Amino acid sequence: MSVVPANIESDVLAIGSAEHRRLLGQFFLDTFVDYVPEQMQWPALSDEEIQRLRSLPFWQEAVSTENVTSNTVAAAAALESDPLVRKAIELQGFEEMRHARLLVALTSHYRIPVESPPRFTPRSLESDFLFAGFGECFDSFFAFGLWALARQSGFFTPALLDVFEPVMQEEARHILFFVNWVKYRRSQLPWWRRAAFRLLCASIIVKQVASRVKTARTMGKPQPAGAGSSENFTLTAHQDVAGDVTLHRLLELCLAENERRMAEYDARLRRPRLVPSIARLLVKLLPASV
Ligand SMILES: [Fe+2]
Ligand SMILES: [Fe+2]
Repeated sequence: MSVVPANIESDVLAIGSAEHRRLLGQFFLDTFVDYVPEQMQWPALSDEEIQRLRSLPFWQEAVSTENVTSNTVAAAAALESDPLVRKAIELQGFEEMRHARLLVALTSHYRIPVESPPRFTPRSLESDFLFAGFGECFDSFFAFGLWALARQSGFFTPALLDVFEPVMQEEARHILFFVNWVKYRRSQLPWWRRAAFRLLCASIIVKQVASRVKTARTMGKPQPAGAGSSENFTLTAHQDVAGDVTLHRLLELCLAENERRMAEYDARLRRPRLVPSIARLLVKLLPASV
């Protein structure tokens, strides 16, 4: 599926141009997929499969993350004066909330205990949106590989993976939208505010990288009870779904899946580069046995 709105024809897109803004909003609205979490047909699982599902440590973290992201994104729509881009951010907020609803539907269907977190209220519309967006750039990249791994290992029944397939593709759309929005946003600022915006983005990226490095250093080591080992769970969950896979192999899968999922969208939109570049570097540096 390639989505190229008919009214946008130029091959080269100047960041911040009216054409970039239209494509940014339009691609997001045109690729919306309609589904209702509460009407999902959940596959019948054996007792063993249900136990395996319940034993995964990250359900609570997943529900909490979607709660923070959905409320942050929904609030961030107020940052935009352009109606099309604002509508796209509102739609993303709706989709994040739908992810939370899907998780609630799954956990209640298979009786996995999770607590509903209190509604998250962002403190700063812009900083919180940037923090959530850069976080998603990391989380989604690892989730793509994790999903492919789960299919290969047979850890989840394919019917269950199919239910979550739209979520995976939505996360690809979200990070594609986000990286283009950051560039668009920066281009709209007066020149004297652009340096501060770059600094804000850089400081958030450093925090997100530091958090993943901290998580990666604990991988494979026993965690004390209640130590928050499910933080950054898309980075660590491959240990749960396919125990003996190497980080090298996981990164290769993440890169291939990222490429495949992004290929569905208009080539004139800028692709997320930071996380795939880090992953490519690690693939080069790490021995295949790690
Ligand atoms: Fe999400
Ligand atoms: Fe998302």
